[in-house]
Amino acid sequence: MNQAGLHLNAVTSGYKTSVVLRNLSLAIAPGEAVALLGKNGMGKSTLLKTVMGYLPKKGGTVRLSGEDITRLAPHRIARMGIAYAAQEKALFTDLSIRDNLCLGLARESVFDERFAEIEPVFPVFGSRLKQYAGTLSGGEQKMLLLARALMMRPAVILLDEITEGLQPSVIDRLASALLWERKQRGTTMLLIEQNVPFALKVADRFLVLKQGEIVDEGDAKAGDASDRVFGHLRV
Ligand SMILES: Nc1ncnc2c1ncn2[C@@H]1O[C@H](COP(=O)(O)OP(=O)(O)OP(=O)(O)O)[C@@H](O)[C@H]1O
Ligand SMILES: [Mg+2]
Repeated sequence: MNQAGLHLNAVTSGYKTSVVLRNLSLAIAPGEAVALLGKNGMGKSTLLKTVMGYLPKKGGTVRLSGEDITRLAPHRIARMGIAYAAQEKALFTDLSIRDNLCLGLARESVFDERFAEIEPVFPVFGSRLKQYAGTLSGGEQKMLLLARALMMRPAVILLDEITEGLQPSVIDRLASALLWERKQRGTTMLLIEQNVPFALKVADRFLVLKQGEIVDEGDAKAGDASDRVFGHLRV
């Protein structure tokens, strides 16, 4: 297993005119899955974009397996083994499904083997590899983003609301796929979710982000986890 831990230490980040994350520290152990929950606009997506290097850090450090990745460009961070499925659909709409899936692979020659592994989770793609990604439905495009991330066999996977807009049966299948991925490969995960039952099912630990700060955390499998999280989302 290629397990990696992810550490954020006092990270401050945001946009030109605003600071969104303030001195945020977070440690995810190798093989651990953490669900990050919070209301709209609290900085969840900003956190993942900051880790991936899409937003410059105004302060603090990010480490992958102890190695400082704070100032690396997104493609270098990806090459080090962090896969990212963005909340906005970051697909190449005028490329085929197959070409989109190939983008995360170092060598195209591994495509067949990798695709065979994920195909049972995403049966909609098997017969349609040549179709343009832009012609997929919204839900199918979300699935393609996740499929691409999984095909990279990452050490760490960052998922930003992958269940958004998907039907319950597909969400169930994704939960099973992520649990399988954890069991087989020990992939470290940071999941941002609005779907609390899905998040708590896949994760070991939950965190609640409020205005750029972590205000609660706990064991995702504890009896009161769901009530606690919903309590934060309600107020
Ligand atoms: N490009 C940008 N420029 C300026 N402000 C931004 C930009 N993107 C996001 N923000 C602001 O940063 C804050 C945090 O946004 P972010 O997208 O991280 O929230 P979120 O927790 O992911 O919300 P949601 O649940 O709606 O996806 C919000 O106030 C948002 O308006
Ligand atoms: Mg978001």
